[in-house]
Amino acid sequence: MSEDARIESVLHEDRLFPPPQGIAERLGGALIGDLDQWREEHERALSDPDEYWGSVASKFWWAKSWDSVLRGTMPDTAWFDGGQTNVCFNCVDRHVVAGHGDQVGLVWEGEPTDDGTPEIRRLTWSMLQEEISRTANALRDLGVQSGDVVTIYMGMVPELAITMLACARIGAVHSVIFGGFSASAIADRVQDAQSKIVVTCDGSWRRGSVVPLKANVDEALASIDLVKHVLVLKRCKNDLEWHGGRDVWWHDVVDSASSECPCVPMDAEAPLFLLYTSGSTGKPKGILHTTAGYMVWTAHTAKNTFNLRADSDQMYWCTADCGWITGHSYIVYGIMPNRVPTLMYEGAPNAPAEDRFWDICARHKVTHFYTAPTAIRAFMKWGDEHPSRHDLSSLQVLGTVGEPINPEAWMWYYRVIGHERCPIVDTWWQTETGGHMITPLPCATPTVPGSCTLPAIGVDAAIVDQDGQEVPHGTGGLLAIRKPWPGMLRGIYGDRDRFMDTYWARLPGLYFAGDGARRDERGYFWIMGRVDDVINVSGHRMGTMEVESALVSHPSVVEAAVVGVPHEIKGTGIAAFCTLIPEQRPKTPEDQEALMAELRAHVGREIGAIAKPDLVRFTDALPKTRSGKIMRRLLRDVAAGVESTQDMTTLEDPKVLSQLRGEV
Ligand code: PRX
Repeated sequence: MSEDARIESVLHEDRLFPPPQGIAERLGGALIGDLDQWREEHERALSDPDEYWGSVASKFWWAKSWDSVLRGTMPDTAWFDGGQTNVCFNCVDRHVVAGHGDQVGLVWEGEPTDDGTPEIRRLTWSMLQEEISRTANALRDLGVQSGDVVTIYMGMVPELAITMLACARIGAVHSVIFGGFSASAIADRVQDAQSKIVVTCDGSWRRGSVVPLKANVDEALASIDLVKHVLVLKRCKNDLEWHGGRDVWWHDVVDSASSECPCVPMDAEAPLFLLYTSGSTGKPKGILHTTAGYMVWTAHTAKNTFNLRADSDQMYWCTADCGWITGHSYIVYGIMPNRVPTLMYEGAPNAPAEDRFWDICARHKVTHFYTAPTAIRAFMKWGDEHPSRHDLSSLQVLGTVGEPINPEAWMWYYRVIGHERCPIVDTWWQTETGGHMITPLPCATPTVPGSCTLPAIGVDAAIVDQDGQEVPHGTGGLLAIRKPWPGMLRGIYGDRDRFMDTYWARLPGLYFAGDGARRDERGYFWIMGRVDDVINVSGHRMGTMEVESALVSHPSVVEAAVVGVPHEIKGTGIAAFCTLIPEQRPKTPEDQEALMAELRAHVGREIGAIAKPDLVRFTDALPKTRSGKIMRRLLRDVAAGVESTQDMTTLEDPKVLSQLRGEV
């Protein structure tokens, strides 16, 4: 289906699902009970942000109260300026101090299963406080000071969340790298952040085999003379090379460290973390989030979007990896202040079998389940028999994030997983926004399959034209945010120009999100996808230029153009068109196959498996306009196998098109 046809079809979606009967009671009472209440709070937050966010923030622990709630205008805003707090204290210690230390705060289920019995750890708030304190002291002993960047490259083990919180405890800034990224991706990020310490594991489990995390770190650091220590958690007991003096075992330094480590009061605008994400040009950029605004934003959005209630039977599970923003905000920082247990799962959705997620939901009585559309499409394909075998009656709210959800996947999720009893919250947001920006509220918002519905409280979202003017409902345009919000990014680490160019130059005075969108006659938002050279592969952001650079770093490739192509499971797959140096052009179909496989593997080594192209085509030349610009839209149509509506008169060499289509 062409992009235009897809957009047309979703815009005619008219099924409307009011919040399911009895949902408010099942959730222990609605926090926002209907759209009138949402509207009232939303308007209050927009018209008087100081009053609204001041009152939300006053529910947190502060070492020192703020002088002003919001200072400055976009992009340079400061929230809760003059105040001091500590994110770790608000996530963990506060619950211990209030007498809830014995309640479970984090549940972990590990891989692999031994004889069908999964490894499970349940950490109470007191246990978390102790472990985080030990880890924080060990980091300090290794020379980490407030403001230093700690790189974390671990599998999904509790120690990953513990290390993040340990950094927050002592004012260190973490930079978590997803465990699927390659050595060269680690090297770029360590270098950019000037990080002197890396925390990793010997390996992580993935479908029963070991991902050699420590070996990847070794390879990354071979070319960098910056890192003083690598702290290594033993998880898989795989063989390692050991660099004496630099490498330190977790169990040698953390287990013996003191469990006394008071939280350091941090300035409200002190950096909390960097998280690298792909952009349309160049290398990934380190998105900077700061302390108080991010904490208030993620906790407040988590509470409302999921109707979280402490002292209830809620068990919240987000299936993301902590290496992405979803894991930062909605496994750790947004969930914990609400004192609801957060579940962390180490492995894959289909190991040992395709029902693994549903087995986890049933055994842990998961009430809130938050995943990506790409996973939902895979579950659909695997068949209803897998969820049907399990008791999913504990589920109350289902969430999705990361990419547009197609209405068929939405309906399947609603019927087969939620049994028509669970509202679906389709949450639109980004690494840059820190937390949810457009989302239904489970007890208030009637939902429509495929729409993320209405803005989160206090978000001034609009669809605008190229001049920043709002367009009428039903008209496509650029998604923009017109007023500051507490969780907004504060910069790109070390690159003010890129920060200004990427987000603030295109629509002066407004935050440019990079997505195209429309609103329907109800005012509901429909996200149409990226309008820049970023593609969303399985809900993961990938820059086409990053993949192109990886391809041209291969000795056979002269030029490469990468575009997104519709993909049944991933939503968008990666299509790569390459021109080769003449001597390397494959002569036989076997040579061609071999080179394609080699290029895919090469991209895997340069970036990570998620960036491997799904389709590689070789061509004598790329389609360009007479002024030399690659005609990407045309390539997208070729990759999707649809007739192009593009104007071909600007095409420099029309022969190229037949070759791209494989006609010659
Ligand atoms: O294109 C939008 C898409 O994901 C992009 C942000 O990617 P990232 O920073 O990696 O964060 C993903 C997790 C928050 C957006 O620009 N996106 C995210 N959520 C949705 C979405 N597209 C449609 N619907 C969503 N619910």
